[in-house]
Amino acid sequence: MALSPTASRLTQSEVPAGRPIPTLVEDVEAGLLTPPRWLPPKYFYDDHGSRLFEAICDTPEYYPTRTEAALLAACSKDVIDQVRPGHLLELGSGSSRKTRYLLDACSQLGVQPVYWPFDVSAQMMLDAGAALVEQHDWLNVHALIGDYSGGLAQLPLPDDGRRRLIVFLGGTLGNFEPPDAVAMLREIAALMKPGDGLLLGLDRVKDKARLEAAYDDAAGHTAAFNLNVLSVLNRELDADFPVEAYRHRAVFDEPRARIEMRLLADRAHTVCIGALDTRISIAAGEQILTEISRKFTRPAIDELLTAAGLSMRSHFEADGGDYSLVLAGADPRA
Ligand code: SAH
Ligand code: TRP
Repeated sequence: MALSPTASRLTQSEVPAGRPIPTLVEDVEAGLLTPPRWLPPKYFYDDHGSRLFEAICDTPEYYPTRTEAALLAACSKDVIDQVRPGHLLELGSGSSRKTRYLLDACSQLGVQPVYWPFDVSAQMMLDAGAALVEQHDWLNVHALIGDYSGGLAQLPLPDDGRRRLIVFLGGTLGNFEPPDAVAMLREIAALMKPGDGLLLGLDRVKDKARLEAAYDDAAGHTAAFNLNVLSVLNRELDADFPVEAYRHRAVFDEPRARIEMRLLADRAHTVCIGALDTRISIAAGEQILTEISRKFTRPAIDELLTAAGLSMRSHFEADGGDYSLVLAGADPRA
């Protein structure tokens, strides 16, 4: 059989926002000008940040990637066999490293979905897509470049009656505040018909020391990743954050069951933000909240799914309850 050329099996499009997305300037105006200071996490993922994230995934401390990969290696065939998807949509796909297990299972079972990775980090996604079409001669990849906070309803997936498997890995849903996580799951559920599946990776509550180490590796990749967001601001907003004056901190807030990633200013300083034509004064010891990463108990997972109108079809759990992969369906009663 003549193989179709790989290049023609990788296509891409930019996803228009279905609702207004705040610009970086607006986000900085909302979060950074006065304490308590915070930033949305999507700005971590410029090309450099995306590479740093890959390095985090390989550190001995960051157990979620390995643990989720092992779960996927074990359960992918079951998941693909249950859903038999014609479309595989992945939110925040990054390097698609773990998606390989699902695609390998597709090859084994003769199921041939179109793969639709969706990410803000275009280069990483396109490189991953190029490698995947080389590896699977049946595979068509359509890379969706965009910001999922602009909504999902406008994604160009055809309504062709073929089943959809939507994949959201890496515990990324834990980076959403509780109401935003439910809203995101509801948007996902709105894309699903009976028989379609959502495969969701969620990190679990565990020992504080292990959690904090996962977000503060000894080699310093997580620190570099967190600090990189200041370089993004300096570049994109013509600002002059003194990166060397900040330190990375990761603290597990037990009552809220979430890791908080912060940047702590070592000394008082003023920052000039050219694009906003403004200056801010930061005191010594002030912190910027750059990311939350929520950790779930088993009951919290059930609650989350119920709130979003999803029902659990299968629960794949790592040894000792370290991590959960949930296969959910849209609840027709919701
Ligand atoms: N799924 C991969 C990557 C997780 S890191 C894994 O499990 O290892 C989170 C990914 O989400 C990054 O690739 C980042 O670029 C992407 N991302 C973060 N915010 C996003 C947004 N608002 N819209 C689209 N993609 C986003
Ligand atoms: N989704 C990842 C998580 O919550 C993102 C992440 C891992 C992250 N390490 C980080 C974000 C360090 C900011 C800083 O586990």
